[in-house]
Amino acid sequence: VSTAAYLEPGRIGRLELPNRIVRAGTSETMAGPDGEVTDELVALYERLAAGGVGLIFSGHLYCERRGRYARRQAGIHSDALIPSLKRLTTAVHAHGGRRVFAQLAHAGSQSRIPGNDDMLAPSPVPNALTGREVAGASEERIEEVVRAFGAAARRAAEAGFDGVHVHGANGYLISEFSSPLANHRSDRFGGSPEARDRFLLEVLGAMRRELPSELPLTLKLGFADAPPGGLQPEEAVARAGRAVDAGVDAIEVSVNVMTRPTDSARAYVAVDRRRAATDLLPQRLMRPPEPEAYFLPWAEALRARVDTRIVLVGGMRTTATIETLLRERKADFVAMARPLIREPDLVAQLAAGRTGRFDCTSCNLCLAHEGHHSLRCWRTPRRRLVEHAVYRLRGGLKRMPPSA
Ligand SMILES: Cc1cc2nc3c(=O)[nH]c(=O)nc-3n(C[C@H](O)[C@H](O)[C@H](O)COP(=O)(O)O)c2cc1C
Ligand code: SF4
Repeated sequence: VSTAAYLEPGRIGRLELPNRIVRAGTSETMAGPDGEVTDELVALYERLAAGGVGLIFSGHLYCERRGRYARRQAGIHSDALIPSLKRLTTAVHAHGGRRVFAQLAHAGSQSRIPGNDDMLAPSPVPNALTGREVAGASEERIEEVVRAFGAAARRAAEAGFDGVHVHGANGYLISEFSSPLANHRSDRFGGSPEARDRFLLEVLGAMRRELPSELPLTLKLGFADAPPGGLQPEEAVARAGRAVDAGVDAIEVSVNVMTRPTDSARAYVAVDRRRAATDLLPQRLMRPPEPEAYFLPWAEALRARVDTRIVLVGGMRTTATIETLLRERKADFVAMARPLIREPDLVAQLAAGRTGRFDCTSCNLCLAHEGHHSLRCWRTPRRRLVEHAVYRLRGGLKRMPPSA
C-alpha cells in the first residue's frame, strides 16, 4: 500500500521528522505578563503533538522586550524564561518523534502594544500595518538587536528546542530591513538589495554562532511587499540564496510588508457555497472559493534558483492539494496555521485515513482576537460565535487591551 506523501518522513538539516506536515507559527495570546509560558500554552502544544503534526513552529517569540508584538505574547528575551520554555519542549517530546522549533522575532515598528514608545525601525516611515512611525535605529542599536537574536537562539537550544525558525516575513523588523519601502537607509544596512540583506545575514550569523551545529536553522522569508513599488520576488530569491549560504536549512515562503493581516492569512480559502452554508457565512454564498496554496508562485521562483528545503504555508485546505504539492516537489513540507487551530488533531485524522477538505473556513475571527483572547477557533463550538459578537458589539476589538 502506498502511503500519502504528507505522511512520509522527512528531514530538515540533520533532523528526522515523522511526516511532512508542520504547524505554522501561530501566536497564541496565552503567555504570562513577562512572556512566560503558562499551563494553557503547554496544554496547547501537548494537544498539537498528540494530534500528530511532525513539527511545530512556535508562535513568534520576542527576542527583546521592545520587540514585543502583542499582549500575552510569549518571550525568549531573558535567561529567566528558559525553565518555562523547557516545559513546552518537554510536552512536545513526550509524543514520540514530534519536534518543535522556536520562532524568533522582533516586531519592529509593527508592535501593537499600546504605550510601547521604545520601538525600532530601519527608517522613520509609517508602518504599513500599524501606522506607527519611529526614528531610524542607530548602528549601535542595530548591533544590539543582532546580539539579542543570537542570545535568543542560545536560549532556545538550552530550553530543548529542536531548531530555530527566524521570522523574516509578515512586516516585522527583518521584513522592514528587507523592504525598499520601509528601509530608506544609505549606510551599510540600506540603499541596495545587498545592503538590505545585511541585517538578516548578521542575525543569521549571530544565531548560527550560538546554536550547536546539529540544530537546524530555518527562515520564514517575505517574498514581496503588499503595497505597490515595494520588494519584488527576484530580490527576495537572491536574498534566500544568500541566507542558505549563511547556513539556513529550510525556507518558509510568505509575504513581506503587509497592509492588512489578510495579506498573510487570506480569507475564505476553498470555501464554496455548501461550506458557506454549513459554516454560517452568508456573505460567501454567492462568491467562488478563494484559491488554495496562494504563495505557490513564490515557492516556484525559489525552487528554480535555490537548492533548499521549501516549507509552503498559506491556504492548504485539502488532502488533494497537499499531496500534489509534495509529490510534484513544489514543496518539501506543508505548513498550516488556521486548520490546526480548528482541528489540532487533524494529522492524526489524516493518518487514520481521512481525506478531502479541512474544516477551517479562513474566516479570520481567530486572527481578529490575537492579543485579546487565547488562541481558539471562534466558529466551533457554535456558542463562541455569540461570545465573539458580544465582544465586538461592545467595541472590544477596536483597540488592543492595555498592558500585559
Ligand atoms: C491567529 C494567527 C496568528 C499567527 N501568528 C503567527 C506567528 O506568530 N508567526 C508567523 O510566522 N505567522 C503567524 N501567522 C501566520 C501563519 O503562520 C500563516 O502564515 C498564515 O495564517 C497562512 O497560513 P494558513 O492558511 O494555514 O492559516 C498567524 C496567523 C494566524 C491566523
Ligand atoms: S476562527 Fe476557526 S474557522 Fe475561522 S479562521 Fe480561525 S480556525 Fe478557521
